[in-house]
Amino acid sequence: MPTEVPVGRVEEFDEFDRKIVLTDGTKVGVFRVDERFYAYENRCMHQGGPVCEGRILGKVETVLEDDRNVLREKFSDTEKHLVCPWHGYEYDIKTGQHAGDRRLSLNRFDVVERDGMVYLLVEQSDSLQQPSENRR
Ligand code: FES
Repeated sequence: MPTEVPVGRVEEFDEFDRKIVLTDGTKVGVFRVDERFYAYENRCMHQGGPVCEGRILGKVETVLEDDRNVLREKFSDTEKHLVCPWHGYEYDIKTGQHAGDRRLSLNRFDVVERDGMVYLLVEQSDSLQQPSENRR
């Protein structure tokens, strides 16, 4: 049965805020997106970079003309990607899946909210350290 590791109060998170917690030697990034929480191990599927410390950007979308020629590209207002700071691998912030290859996915953790608190669910929690400051 997983252990609930406290991450912080819900109101400590604005949209796209994150906290990175260390539990049992594993760094986990906890993100608030669209009023929900998502958590991933801070380890990129490419070469193990600190993906949870990367920027959150809209998915790049192509805008086509009526004849299907490319008019321009724009950042999505609804789909957000977490971008690894080492080499730019992009992951869907809500699923953890790699944007270019859905077979690759970040190691996901469940998150629960209860009584205004956010908890990370982990199998072991002996060495929890204090969460880092909120970052965008
Ligand atoms: S380690 Fe993340 S893109 Fe290379």
